[in-house]
Amino acid sequence: MTDSSESSGTSEDKAGTASSVEPEPEAGTVTEPEPATAPATAAGPVPAAGSGIAPTAFLEVRDLQVHFPTDDGLVKSVDGLSFALEKGKTLGIVGESGSGKSVTSLAVMGLHRASRQQRSKVRMSGEIWLDGKELVGAEPDEVRRLRGREMAMIFQDPLSALHPYYTVGQQIVEAYRVHNDVDKKTARKRAVEMLDRVGIPQPDKRVDDHPHQFSGGMRQRAMIAMALVNNPELLIADEPTTALDVTVQAQILDLIRDLQKEFGSAVVIITHDLGVVAELADDLLVMYGGRCVERGPAERIFATPQHPYTWGLLGSMPRIDRDQTDRLIPVKGAPPSLINVPSGCAFHPRCPYADVPKDNLTRTVRPELGQVDGGHFSACHMAPQERERIWTEEIAPKL
Ligand SMILES: Nc1ncnc2c1ncn2[C@@H]1O[C@H](COP(=O)(O)OP(=O)(O)OP(=O)(O)O)[C@@H](O)[C@H]1O
Ligand code: SF4
Ligand SMILES: [Mg+2]
Repeated sequence: MTDSSESSGTSEDKAGTASSVEPEPEAGTVTEPEPATAPATAAGPVPAAGSGIAPTAFLEVRDLQVHFPTDDGLVKSVDGLSFALEKGKTLGIVGESGSGKSVTSLAVMGLHRASRQQRSKVRMSGEIWLDGKELVGAEPDEVRRLRGREMAMIFQDPLSALHPYYTVGQQIVEAYRVHNDVDKKTARKRAVEMLDRVGIPQPDKRVDDHPHQFSGGMRQRAMIAMALVNNPELLIADEPTTALDVTVQAQILDLIRDLQKEFGSAVVIITHDLGVVAELADDLLVMYGGRCVERGPAERIFATPQHPYTWGLLGSMPRIDRDQTDRLIPVKGAPPSLINVPSGCAFHPRCPYADVPKDNLTRTVRPELGQVDGGHFSACHMAPQERERIWTEEIAPKL
């Protein structure tokens, strides 16, 4: 087993090398229950891990589990997640803080097992198929070669992704040269081009600045430039607009959209704010407590959401055309512990409809993801007609 990443220093190196350690499925864990026999489409059923069915989508995540053993117990950050994404499409992953969004994206990038030390602290199982290659069990060098070139990530915190010691330009040059056999001058030209492309003023001068000389919005742009320098086919943007003011937010989202059009990449946008993905995403995946509670085409989820948690998220979206007092109160209570996940439906302690399904079902049996229609899935014990009624009569009029 090679492990060349541990002494790394640049941004690409900081991303590290994925592990060659075989996944260690936790005994007795439950896998994503979708009965998936058909090939995956962007919003359709996804075959189960171990099904042997060849992936058909550009990115297919099957029954992904990412667990962290800690002194307090096993943290089940991601616990049986499946989704598929085609090239040229955008998937929005939404959920509150701690629902497992970043852990999912780091898993796709192979970054949980980048070093020997990290490997000892994570248990991963399931399958991640990128362009026909399976990454959970892949050799670390193979995943590292894909990182940057085929897949790239805009990290939640630009300062943690940009090295303070190196100039912005040096870091983009390094990210480019890892995958392209070019001299430094050519790579620098490319870095300036990319900074220009993401809207950094005077890119030929700012290329020599250090990250701390950039504003928050400029750092975010620099990170986008670094992520896109190799025209990756998969771009994961983890909260790309957090902490930016509204104008810059809109510019960054436009930029991602333009670049996607230009390169035809598959894009995953991760956010706690449904508003961010309302216009951008083709499909949505709503996460709660490390699991998917609803997923499907974005327009269908916005039109007829089928899970009480999604209703709560919609109620939290700011609306300028409504007085806040008329509106639904956003989801009450705190996100669940991922060590002692509530029994049955993990959302039941916060769900206003927990008593609607009979026989205490919501507290005893975990709801499986069931198909609502087309590619729309929801994990809730309420009968579809009941959900439809509540949505139409009680929720939609208050949003
Ligand atoms: N290395 C780790 N060891 C133990 N627990 C971890 C580790 N990494 C993440 N977690 C836990 O996993 C859970 C999910 O974390 P994650 O960062 O994916 O949340 P998130 O949905 O991205 O939240 P946010 O919106 O705040 O970014 C959290 O409870 C977090 O504390
Ligand atoms: S299964 Fe029960 S607790 Fe969970 S979302 Fe549906 S109604 Fe609410
Ligand atoms: Mg996060």
